Amino acid sequence: PTLEKDIIPLYFAWFLAKHEEDNLRKTAHDFLEQLGNLKAFKKRLQAFGVEDKHKLDLLKYFAKAPNILHCTSKYCDYGKLPGSEEYAQQEGVKRSYSKGFTLHISSLFITPRTVGAQVELTEEQLFLWPADAEKEVMPKDTFPRGSRAHITLSTAADTQDVQTGIDLLELIKLQQTGKEGENVGEIFGGKLSYYDNGIWMLVLPRKKEVKTIFSGYYG
Ligand code: A2P
Repeated sequence: PTLEKDIIPLYFAWFLAKHEEDNLRKTAHDFLEQLGNLKAFKKRLQAFGVEDKHKLDLLKYFAKAPNILHCTSKYCDYGKLPGSEEYAQQEGVKRSYSKGFTLHISSLFITPRTVGAQVELTEEQLFLWPADAEKEVMPKDTFPRGSRAHITLSTAADTQDVQTGIDLLELIKLQQTGKEGENVGEIFGGKLSYYDNGIWMLVLPRKKEVKTIFSGYYG
């Protein structure tokens, strides 16, 4: 028999099922629309670099959205990145491949660069989370494992998707230092907080469950 080597994907992720994806895109759209219309938001636009507050259309500002909504677990670049081979070979990763998982979204956040959904991983899902995922982008800080877990919903025109997880860690860092967001109202019945520098977080009143499949993206 010929021995064929597994092909390592561009990235491993939990991919949203189609109807879940449509639903979450709509939620993101409504969130931006409602946020953009809030007086509290219009008063705090400096970080978005717009002079005229009537000129900022958030739906246009966040010009890009990923083709497939997903929560990246490990970015491998087809095996070029250190640790990707080891990750792909992990028993848990192999066992979970193509299996269904329910993810829990606890909040939505926006910064002048990105819009994302914060994902709270379960114990089982944390098995698929690389130990160095947080250190990789913020080597000087300490975070609970899985803090970077998120779904990129959209980004500004000149921003890479990878920025969304970095923005989420920045936000969590602010929360860790005891900085409380300024409570500026409600959207979808959840508490909306403002954290300086154009960082906003909406804690959902109930965690939103989304059905996903754990798999690889080959591009
Ligand atoms: P994210 O998971 O925040 O959405 P790209 O199209 O830029 O190659 O990215 C493909 C996917 O991999 C995106 O989902 C992106 O970000 C994620 N990604 C890109 N680079 C990295 C990285 N260095 N570390 C972790 N995830 C990454």
